[in-house]
Amino acid sequence: MADTPQETLANLLSEDRTFPPSPEFTQAANVTAAAYDEAAADRLAFWEAQARRLDWSKDWDRVLDWDNPPFAKWFTGGELNVSANCLDRHVANGLGDRVAIHFEGEPGDTRAVTYAELLDEVKRAANALTDLGVEAGDRVVIYMPMIPEAAVAMLACARIGAPHSVVFGGFSAAALSSRIDDAGAKLVICADGGFRKGKAFALKPTVDEALESCPSVEQVLVVTRTGQEVAWNDRDVKWEDAVGGASNEHEAQPFDAEHPLFILYTSGTTGKPKGILHTSGGYLTQASFTHHAVFDLKPETDVYWCTADIGWVTGHSYIVYGPMSNGATQVMYEGTPDTPHTGRFWEIVQKYGVTILYTAPTAIRTFMKWGDDVPAKFDLSSLRVLGSVGEPINPEAWVWYREHIGGGSTPVVDTWWQTETGAIMVSPLPGVTATKPGSAQRPLPGISVDVVDEQGEAVPDGGGGFLVIREPWPSMLRTIWGDDQRFLDTYWAHFDGMYFAGDGAKKDDDGDLWLLGRVDDIMLVSGHNISTTEVESALVSHETVAEAAVVGASDPVTGQGIVAFVILRGQSESSPEHLAELRAHVAKTLGAIAKPRQVIIVAELPKTRSGKIMRRLLRDIAEDREIGDVTTLADNTVMSRIKTGLQGGKED
Ligand code: WT7
Repeated sequence: MADTPQETLANLLSEDRTFPPSPEFTQAANVTAAAYDEAAADRLAFWEAQARRLDWSKDWDRVLDWDNPPFAKWFTGGELNVSANCLDRHVANGLGDRVAIHFEGEPGDTRAVTYAELLDEVKRAANALTDLGVEAGDRVVIYMPMIPEAAVAMLACARIGAPHSVVFGGFSAAALSSRIDDAGAKLVICADGGFRKGKAFALKPTVDEALESCPSVEQVLVVTRTGQEVAWNDRDVKWEDAVGGASNEHEAQPFDAEHPLFILYTSGTTGKPKGILHTSGGYLTQASFTHHAVFDLKPETDVYWCTADIGWVTGHSYIVYGPMSNGATQVMYEGTPDTPHTGRFWEIVQKYGVTILYTAPTAIRTFMKWGDDVPAKFDLSSLRVLGSVGEPINPEAWVWYREHIGGGSTPVVDTWWQTETGAIMVSPLPGVTATKPGSAQRPLPGISVDVVDEQGEAVPDGGGGFLVIREPWPSMLRTIWGDDQRFLDTYWAHFDGMYFAGDGAKKDDDGDLWLLGRVDDIMLVSGHNISTTEVESALVSHETVAEAAVVGASDPVTGQGIVAFVILRGQSESSPEHLAELRAHVAKTLGAIAKPRQVIIVAELPKTRSGKIMRRLLRDIAEDREIGDVTTLADNTVMSRIKTGLQGGKED
C-alpha cells in the first residue's frame, strides 16, 4: 500500500442531524432490531435461516466451510437453481400475472413483462443456448443495453449453469475483447444497439471488432433493439429466430451451491481488470435477504426502481437476482436522466408510482445542480424508501435527496458494498436505524465489518483507519477468475485474517461508520491524513456548490496541498472573493488544516461510466503534468475541456 496513511485518519467532519424512522414505518418493517441480536448470538444460524428464503432441491450439509481460508464455501452439499428461484417458484405460487418489469425505453416505448412471460422467455432462451452448444460451466459474455432481454439472457445462463459475464455496454472493443478472452467465453449475447441521449448507439460493430482477437467465441446471439443495419457474419444468430423458435418447456436442473453464477470484471481505474467470481447459493441468499431488509420490500404493493446499469454489480444484485428472487415488481429504464428533459426520472416515478428508488450520489448531485424546481413539478408522493450506492454521499446531497425527492419524510439508506462483496454489507435498516446524513452506519446483521489501524487493531469510536471485513459472508467473491494468487495478494495480504478492499473509514462517537473514500486518494497534509470525502462534503455544504472533487497535489512545504475542483450550482462564474469564501468555508467547517490551497471552478468532472470521479486525472492537472490514461472515462474529451476552461484562485 504505497499511499497508506502514516497515522489514523483525521476525523474532521461532524454531523449531528439524525432522522429516526416514523413509528408507522417501524411497525410495518420487514426487519426489526431483533435481527442484530439474533445474528450476534449465532451468525451461521442467522444465515442458515436467511437461506430458507430460497427453494433448495437438496439441503446443505454445512453452512460454512472455512477450512481453507480465504477460500470460502457456503451451504456445502446444497443444490438449487438460481433462475427457478427467481421465476418458476413465483409462477407456481400463483403470481404469474404479477408484473416483473415495467420497461421504459428511452424513446418512450414501454412493455410490461409479467413473471409468467419472463419465465416463458427465459425457458426459450435456455433451450436456445443449449441448442447453440452452451453447456453447464461454459462462459457467456453479455453486452447489452438496458432492455428486458439483458435480464432474460442472465437468467437463461443461470438456468443452465453457464456463468455469465456482463460487460457494460459503454465499454470499448478493446475492453470487451480483453474480458471475453480472460473469461474464455464461448458465446456472446449482444444487441444491435440501444438508445441513449436521444440517439441510437451501436453495439454489434464493437462486438465484431472485439472478436477479431477472441478465438474462444463460436457464436454471437444478436437481439434486435434499434433495427439499425448491422454487418452479418457466419457465426451470428438472430435472437428472435433462435429464442423465438425455441420450445418454452424447460425443466431447470439443480446445481451445487458453489456452482459459479457469474464473473464480473471490476472497472478499476488502473491495471488489468479483475474477474470477480460469484457462486450460487450464498450469493443469492445475501442478495435476497439484503433486498428484503434494506429496502423493506413488500412485493405485493411496492414498485421498485434501481437506476443502475445491468453491467455493474448493482444491476446484478439489485435489478436481477435480489428483486426477482423476492418476486418484486420493478421499473427498468433504458436511457439517461436528461432525455428528453431533466425531469425524466421524476416523470417515471410519477407514472409507475415508484415506491422504492435506488440510485447513486453522482446522480443526486447532478439533480441538485439542475435545480429544486425540476422534481417539484412531479408527484413523488408514492416514494417511501430511498437508497444510495457507489460513493460516499455528502451530507448535503443526502439531505437534499430526502427533502426534494423524499418529501422530507422517507428514510434514506446509504448502502456500502463492492463488486467483490456481492451484496450490501453496511447500511441503515429503514425501520430500525435513526439515520445520519452521510453515514452508512452499521454492518448488516450477520456481517462483521470493522475499522482498523496500520497494525490491524480496531480503532476506538471517534477514530479513523481502514475498513475491513473480519468474517466470511455468504455473497463474498470466491476468487479472481483464473488467478487465486492475485485474489490473495489484493484482498487478504494487508491484514492478517481480514479482508481489505481499499476504503478508508471512521467510527463516530456512537460507533457509526463513515466511508472516507479509497485510501489511495487520501491526502497527507503537514503530516495529517485528510480524506478527500470530508473536504468535498464541506464544499458541497456551501450554498453555491453542486459538486466537488478534491486531490492532494505535491507541495514543497506541506507534503501535499489540497486542490479542489468545484462545479457551481446554477451559475458558472466565480470571483476572487467567492473563491476565498469557499476556502474559508472549508476551514470553518473542518479546521484550518483542511483549507484548500487552491479552488478551481470547472463545468464538469472526469468520471467513469459508473459515476466515480477519477481523481488521478485531476492530480495530473493540479500538478501541471501531462494527463494520463483516459480510456476508462465516460467522456474522454472532458479533460481537455477542463484544462482549457480553468478558472481558479490560488493561496493568498
Ligand atoms: C467501491 C466499490 C457497490 C456497488 C457499486 C460500486 C465505493 C460504494 C459506497 C457507499 C461510500 C461507497 C467504495 C467501494 N462505494 N458504495 N455507500 N459509501 N463508498 O461497486 O464499482 O465495486 O465499487 O465503491 O469505494 O469500495 P464497485
